[in-house]
Order: sequence, then C-alpha cells, then structure tokens
Amino acid sequence: MIRIDIATLFPQMCEAFLSESIIGRARRGGYIELFCHDIRDYADNKHNRVDDKPYGGGTGMVMQAQPIYDCISAIKAQAGSDRRVIYMSPQGKPLTQQKVKELACLDGFIILCGHYEGVDCRVIEELDAEEISVGDYVVTGGELPALILADAVARLQPGVLPNSDAYSLESHYQRLLEYPQYTRPEIWRGRSVPQVLLSGDHKSVEEWQKTMQTAVTLKKRPELLAARRNDGSPYAKYLTVKAAEPGLPEDIFEALTMLSKNKLLSSKEKKIFVKNAEYLHNILPLKTGKQRIFLKADAQEAIESFLPLCDILSAHKLNFNIIYTDFPGKIIQESEIYVVTEDITDT
Ligand SMILES: C[S@@+](CC[C@H](N)C(=O)[O-])C[C@H]1O[C@@H](n2cnc3c(N)ncnc32)[C@H](O)[C@@H]1O
Repeated sequence: MIRIDIATLFPQMCEAFLSESIIGRARRGGYIELFCHDIRDYADNKHNRVDDKPYGGGTGMVMQAQPIYDCISAIKAQAGSDRRVIYMSPQGKPLTQQKVKELACLDGFIILCGHYEGVDCRVIEELDAEEISVGDYVVTGGELPALILADAVARLQPGVLPNSDAYSLESHYQRLLEYPQYTRPEIWRGRSVPQVLLSGDHKSVEEWQKTMQTAVTLKKRPELLAARRNDGSPYAKYLTVKAAEPGLPEDIFEALTMLSKNKLLSSKEKKIFVKNAEYLHNILPLKTGKQRIFLKADAQEAIESFLPLCDILSAHKLNFNIIYTDFPGKIIQESEIYVVTEDITDT
C-alpha cells in the first residue's frame, strides 16, 4: 500500500480534505496511507516560530530550514530513509498525468508544503527535493497543490476507484481527452444524446468513444497530440473520415453531398459543408479509392475542417469513423491517436 506523508504548517487544512469522499473512504478502507505532519512541532523556540525575515530584505517571511529538515527526518525515520521528497513550488515542472503515474508506482513519498514567501532554498538542496508545480500561477501555500498531487496519485491505487477503467479512459491517462459524456434526459433543450449511445451495441459505443477521444483532443488541446508523438507514440501519415451508416456513401464528402441533394441539410449546415469541403478539396485533392489523404503541412487545419463535417453527421444521428493509416488503404489502428506529420508527394 502506498504511503504519502505531507509536511505542512496547516495539517488540519489537509486532513479536512483527505478525510472526505473517495480519498477518505480509501484511507478508512486501508487502500492508501496518508499522514499530515505539523512542521511547527519541530520549532526550537517556545513561540513555535518556524519562519523569519528574508536576508536582503523584502516583504513576507521565509520558512526556516531546520524545522523543515527535522520534520522530514522524523517522517523518514518512520516511513523509510529512501523516501523521495517533493516540494510543491511554482518554480517546479508542471504536474502531468505521466508524473502522477510515475509517483503512483512508488511505495510512498513525502510532500513538503511551503507558505508565506516560500522556504529557505538550502533545505530544498539538502533534501534533494524535486520541485513540482500545479501550474504557472502562485497560490498562498503548498497545501492545495499537495492535495492535488496526493489525490491524483491516490486515485490510481488499487481499490480506490471501482476499476482501472475509471481512470484509464479519463482525460490525460493516454495523453488524450475523454469522449463527451451524457446522462438523462435523452433530449435536453433540443439537444439529443448521440444515437449510438442509445443503441445498446457495446462495440459501436466503444468505437464512438475512441473516435471522440481523438476528435475532442484535436479540437480542444491539439498540442497534446504533438506531445504524444514526441514521446514515441505511434502516428500515421494519412487520415480519413468515413461515414459508417448503411445506405450512405463511405466518403464523407459524398455522404454529405447526398444529404444535401436530398434536401436534408439545413441552409446553415449546407454553408458549413460547402466552406469546409471547398477548403479541404483545395488543399488536399489526393484520393485513393475511398480514402482522403492529408499532408503534413495542412494536417491540423484539415482536421479542424473535418470536425464541423463530423458534427453535421452527428446532428443527423449518422455514425462516422475517423481512421488513421500509415499508408493509403491500410488501416493500422482505428481511433488511436495520430497526427499527420509527413509530406507525401506521390502515392
Ligand atoms: C506564495 S508561494 C511562494 C512563491 C515564491 N515566493 C516564488 O515566487 O516562487 C508560497 C508557497 O505556496 C506554494 N505554491 C504556490 N504556488 C504554487 C504552485 N503553482 N504550485 C505548487 N506550489 C505552489 C509553494 O509551496 C510555495 O512555497
């Protein structure tokens, strides 16, 4: 079982959060160990002071090195002398799900919370502490950042959530965002739940979810895809969108043309179709069989032009698949995450 120790000037603030809800239950159920330690218990004066004015002047107080060092040493004596120390700091590397996964595999670690102007930097060096930030902004103390880290790590521990699907399909676990979620009622203010989610067909639902993970990531956080590519994740050179509805042409342009000819598109949808289709045809006229092929330079814009077309299909409750291939005609992995990166001058 993982053991997380938090060294802070405000242990009750941390306890209040860590005793409630999922984390509180997991602690009581014996799935995780979390301890909050009061750095003030290690003050060497009768007023329990653990901070002092900064050398060189300036506003605010700085937390002294010795009480912090003594507190962390006492924790190590209980938990293990090899425990890693993490200092929550706006100067650290921003926390990511990858870092959370890494820490979740340890037997435990210690989190140090600063407050006021921060801590005497010598204790960070002495403890060889890793600095982790919760983002490029400053909050008043390390407690909220520490709780974010502890919560993110704790929920990956066996027994804390009902099963691994509860976190592995969520945003960031696979460097993708989650697919859109819906609950009752089926229609709310004229907005319907996609038909596929009501179909009871688990395979189609799974395919839709995978496709939407990609589509949502491309729309909201395209840079995550680049990060995935940079860490060696697979990617493809080509991309196509296929209508997946019996009676409709597979090619998304032909499918939409057919809907348009049958006067099934609203005038607004028609405008969106014409605008995006024109753009896509201009930049990427290549076609192999039924596959539309997209080239490096235009990939992102191409994808962004595809999404409104997918939205039209969705609005008409028509299924579609986004398919990425390593060369035209060959599917390497449907709905996995790829970014088109290479120029293809001849095919
Ligand atoms: C007001 S901040 C000190 C900021 C420090 N003077 C600086 O400019 O880098 C007080 C404490 O809050 C915590 N803290 C503030 N912002 C944080 C962030 N973005 N991520 C993690 N911890 C943060 C740190 O523990 C820090 O020691």
